[in-house]
Amino acid sequence: MSQPSARPKIRLVLLGAPASGKGTQGQTLAAELGIPKISTGDMLRAARDAGTELGKLADGIMAAGKLVPDDLVIRLVDGRLSEPDAQRGFILDGFPRTVPQAEALDRLLESRGVKLNAALHIDLPRELLMERATLRRTDVRTGQIYHLKYNPPPDSAELVHRDDDREETVRKRLDAYDTMTAALVPYYQGKKILRHVDGVGTPRDVGERIRRALDELESSGAGASRAAKPAEKVARGGADGD
Ligand code: AP5
Repeated sequence: MSQPSARPKIRLVLLGAPASGKGTQGQTLAAELGIPKISTGDMLRAARDAGTELGKLADGIMAAGKLVPDDLVIRLVDGRLSEPDAQRGFILDGFPRTVPQAEALDRLLESRGVKLNAALHIDLPRELLMERATLRRTDVRTGQIYHLKYNPPPDSAELVHRDDDREETVRKRLDAYDTMTAALVPYYQGKKILRHVDGVGTPRDVGERIRRALDELESSGAGASRAAKPAEKVARGGADGD
């Protein structure tokens, strides 16, 4: 693992549709920066596997491709942000997912005397999202994310195929994203901490764009005194779709 960098504390939200690469990129970046990646999806799956009340409630909702109620995930994140490792900074993956969750996060951070300093939106066309989700596999022992086509697992991996990665459920998750979560792009644009990152390309390519976007946000003073300026499209590797 590489050494934690000298970057100021990063409190980052990774936005993006299901299977856009938030988990993959978040895992690498968290290891590089020596800060935790906090994934509400992982926490809910762990609660489900442990058979807790929350897990039982979340199970059916997740399997249907819908969103778990805001108050439940906000409570989960509140608890997780109180843990010692999160005081070094954090990467949020899959939270917030609605504007009320984003507002609650702002309040949780404000009560701790800190605020977010980056929101990165990983952008990917819908047809690629479908392929990335349906062929995803995860090693239950290590949590490592693989893809049967783009990042094949080693023979030693103990693989699971997520229930909600079946085609019909992925479609519903993508619809839920369009209806509920896409609204977070303008939310963070308004706070001047958003950058779009092209999610097409190898994980390494996307990772480099993410680092460039973070460097650019840092040098612009985002989250502190950044001058009002519309969120730019930065670090795009190829054609810009919008
Ligand atoms: P969650 O687990 O958060 O799922 P998600 O947001 O739908 O995101 P994914 O985990 O599907 O994808 P990802 O963007 O992390 O992509 P990955 O890196 O794995 O949530 C699951 C459910 O929990 C929700 O539907 C909801 O019910 C509930 N939930 C969670 N949070 C909630 C909240 N805040 N509020 C309410 N409900 C909540 O990559 C995907 C695949 O692509 C992998 O196979 C990977 O190997 C591959 N890949 C990645 N990058 C590349 C690349 N550059 N090139 C080729 N392949 C790549």
